Amino acid sequence: MNKIYVCFSLVFVLAAFSYYLRAEEPKNTSELKAEAKEIVAVFAGNLKPKLKKAIQDGGFEHAVNICSVEAPKIAKNLSAKTGWSVKRVNLKPRNINSATPDEFEREVLRQFNERQIKGESPPAISYAEIVGDKFRFMKAQGVEGLCLNCHGTSIQPDVKKLILEHYPDDAATGYSLGEIRGAFSLIKSL
Ligand code: HEC
Repeated sequence: MNKIYVCFSLVFVLAAFSYYLRAEEPKNTSELKAEAKEIVAVFAGNLKPKLKKAIQDGGFEHAVNICSVEAPKIAKNLSAKTGWSVKRVNLKPRNINSATPDEFEREVLRQFNERQIKGESPPAISYAEIVGDKFRFMKAQGVEGLCLNCHGTSIQPDVKKLILEHYPDDAATGYSLGEIRGAFSLIKSL
């Protein structure tokens, strides 16, 4: 009799525990998503004012120099501070060392482009998935008027020349307003 009782208790405890684990998962995912969104906001909130100030101080050429130094620095600092891998990736990368997408990122970027074409606004487009033992999060970055000066179809020759000096393989031009320029890509080991 006692044995049956112990057995029942054990089954009950195991069932309750597995239910608890399953109930926990969505909460963890949404917490991770919120954390990732916060990191993206810090990244963008650091970079954009620096870009704008550089343009005001010394025009687009100066801003290219600033961006080529500051953008990688911000990504590196944020990665070190948060324990997440923090990058910006793109199907047509400028900085091929940091922005070339892996297979997962390539597929998500393709889907982002489709979602934008179907009418979603770039700032609202993001995607999260647990892949193996990693939580991955990506958030689209749309093309605004300001961006066209260095990523558009008619870039001033001096600016273009300077960009090519820094990035001889630059593919990140030819964009139009409202398109998706690329995405923040964050990875956290679980
Ligand atoms: C003054 C020129 C300039 C302007 C304006 C500018 N960018 Fe860039 N952009 C750059 C440079 C230079 C890099 C390469 C930075 C690096 O080495 O990480 C870059 C890189 C990027 C990247 C990283 C991926 C890649 O291809 O290397 C994204 C995403 C991006 N820019 C989006 C934007 C968006 C969105 C805007 C408008 C809000 C914008 N940029 C405005 C010069 C500019």
